Amino acid sequence: MDESRVMNRLKVLHRRRLKRLTRNSIFAGLVAVICLVAAHSFAEEKPKGEKEKSELAKIMGEIDKSYKAVEQISGYYKYSDNDWSVIAEASANIVHLAKVVISKFPRPDDKKYQDLNKLMLIEAEKMLEVTSHKNERGALEDAQWQVRRLRQTCAVCHKHLGIHLYPQLYPGKKDELQPGQEEIPAPKETGAPKDW
Ligand code: HEC
Repeated sequence: MDESRVMNRLKVLHRRRLKRLTRNSIFAGLVAVICLVAAHSFAEEKPKGEKEKSELAKIMGEIDKSYKAVEQISGYYKYSDNDWSVIAEASANIVHLAKVVISKFPRPDDKKYQDLNKLMLIEAEKMLEVTSHKNERGALEDAQWQVRRLRQTCAVCHKHLGIHLYPQLYPGKKDELQPGQEEIPAPKETGAPKDW
């Protein structure tokens, strides 16, 4: 009788030991997995410092340069030949870059973004077109109108996407009106003679 009790007791102890071992090794396994995951995610993290600009942001920067070149002279009362060539070069550049954006950075599930990119292209094309009849009456006004039309496509798209550029674009010029701040009425494409 006594002997079998001892045996039973030993069995119970053995079973407990086994259980504890299993529990310990499960725990050790979990710790190992967690360490691996953590190490992996640290390795994935980019080194801190300058944020890399996206390809699209770089193109936007180029568009911006051309746009600003035109905007800068848009208040003149008369354009010199040199001014006209600045406008022609800048609008050709924006036409090219808008095409790149449309083909390389489409967002098929955002119709407004797609439309506004096309509109930017159309307005830049119109601006280029104006420079081809720079000697006609009203060409100056047409060019200035196109600057505003173009500017509105930038502002509307950035607003649509919640992109706020102005602090970085216009440092220290907070008090002035900035592109896109004033509402521009839609053009009346009435076909009225240019110089009425
Ligand atoms: C259809 C949408 C759309 C239109 C139109 C548009 N943009 Fe943008 N713009 C963007 C998006 C999207 C970004 C953000 C790109 C990023 O950070 O990856 C951006 C960013 C920018 C930036 C910041 C780039 C940087 O260095 O971070 C500038 C400057 C800019 N746009 C200028 C312009 C100008 C000027 C026009 C008009 C002539 C214009 N954009 C028209 C969508 C648009």
